Amino acid sequence: MKKSALQIARASYQPKLPASLKGGVVLTEGAFTQSVADQDAIKELFPNTYGMPIVKLESGAVKSYPTVNVGVILSGGQAPGGHNVIAGLFDGLKKLNPNNKLYGFLGGPSGLIDHKYIELTADVVDEYRNTGGFDIIGSGRTKLEEPAQFDSGIEICKQLGVNAIVVIGGDDSNTNACVLAEYYSQKNAGIQVIGCPKTIDGDLKNEMIETSFGFDTACKVYSELIGNIQRDANSAKKYYHFIRLMGRSASHITLECALQSQPNICIVSEEVEANNMTLNDVVEDIVKVIVDRANYGLNFGTILIPEGLIEFIPAMKKLIAELNDLLAHNDEFNALNTEDEKRQYVKGKLSADSREVYRSLPKGIARQLTLDRDPHGNVQVSLVETEKLLIEMVAKRLATMKGEGSYVGKFSAINHFFGYEGRCAIPSNFDADYCYSLGYTASVLISEGKTGYMSSVRNLTAPADQWIAGGVPITMMMNMERRHGSLKPVIQKALVRLDGEPFKYFAAHRASWADADTSFIYPGPIQYYGPTEVCDQPTKTLQLEHHKLI
Ligand code: FBP
Repeated sequence: MKKSALQIARASYQPKLPASLKGGVVLTEGAFTQSVADQDAIKELFPNTYGMPIVKLESGAVKSYPTVNVGVILSGGQAPGGHNVIAGLFDGLKKLNPNNKLYGFLGGPSGLIDHKYIELTADVVDEYRNTGGFDIIGSGRTKLEEPAQFDSGIEICKQLGVNAIVVIGGDDSNTNACVLAEYYSQKNAGIQVIGCPKTIDGDLKNEMIETSFGFDTACKVYSELIGNIQRDANSAKKYYHFIRLMGRSASHITLECALQSQPNICIVSEEVEANNMTLNDVVEDIVKVIVDRANYGLNFGTILIPEGLIEFIPAMKKLIAELNDLLAHNDEFNALNTEDEKRQYVKGKLSADSREVYRSLPKGIARQLTLDRDPHGNVQVSLVETEKLLIEMVAKRLATMKGEGSYVGKFSAINHFFGYEGRCAIPSNFDADYCYSLGYTASVLISEGKTGYMSSVRNLTAPADQWIAGGVPITMMMNMERRHGSLKPVIQKALVRLDGEPFKYFAAHRASWADADTSFIYPGPIQYYGPTEVCDQPTKTLQLEHHKLI
């Protein structure tokens, strides 16, 4: 493979570790835990892994650990830094006991079930240090939920002498990790399971998990692109750019990009839901800014839209929930041949309210809502082109206002969708260090015999030296939610909190970003070498949450 100059230079970057992991390590146990909600139900479902204590890794005497063989799985959507989790895991395992081995299951969780794997030796790992992507072993979205799958996992682990599995994934994949840990404990299979918090979406976070990896890099890439578009908009002064950003249900990515680039408008789904807004209300809000700016002679700007918006408009949410239940394992629907037949079928099954909403949507958007769910039962919001829907509705409303004489401007819009542009970017220094530390922490948790834990590294706005490493029982993050038409134990998603510091900062400044004085920020590309204030800043979200934004 021919490498770029940056790739060659980054290969020799040594990621930073918390001071506590650099020498001998001692594990201390804290208070016992309980799940965030539905305690009785979760306790019943996870009798062996419920209630375990939070653990902390501190500097201590160098110990000798028994040999372990570990299998690692990359699960779900790519996120920058996954390769460094594997590098940290590998280096940690070799340091704790040079006889330890690491295997990589190929193509995601299915690699475990189908017995597809490679051994990850130093040669292989070295090729991927500090690079983006998940291509070292590939990823996948297969859901691990059937005992037959778990048993197939036991078979290959026995064959390879694997005593522990590390699942690098988002909320749904770590839910799987938790189910797997419980099953293997119940069966006394001798296989530990440890999770690592991955996802660009930033929605796998809580008191003990300050951020998921990949969020930092992805947001910086999108913010660079938004900044470039804003400079173009401010130069040409003729287009409104409607920019939809990945992130599934949560608006963390959109909010972080707004904090970094200060667009004219940023929609936050969680606020739309809290204010019980309709789609028309959202359109009216956008139109108001466009009309005001037109009165100053400004017919350009940027509008950020979270990809999950549609799910947060109460009427749409109800429609999606009905569609989720209706389309779960629905062979009758899947057997229909034409789009028209499918549309008629759906209309015939929906409640009167939802049917009305479904009918009111442009056909393309309505069809996108009925596309295949992902293996976890989620509607694939990345396929729903909300930015186009909003452009259409805004243009229509402005045309009416123009006819009435209440709008004097000229509206030309361009749509964008950013997601894949950032998921495999070369990890920022923050993600390179954070991921390496998460992987290294996982190696210690395994050697200490832990299972059902998620690797946790905290105090992330301090220099890496002062980061706090440890483990959090995954059951602590769980609650019961409706999936594929029935209640399931899942890790609670962290949505944007309207009483949180990032949103409060945004709400206090957005009016000035919308008005006539240009407030755009142009963040520029991620820098890997140079002054620390240019290269090592964590996200604005983390800085605000830690009261550290200057
Ligand atoms: P994960 O939740 O697996 O980390 O995925 C993140 C994500 O990038 C979402 O933002 C997006 O909605 C989804 O993946 C798209 O997935 P795919 O490329 O598989 O359609």
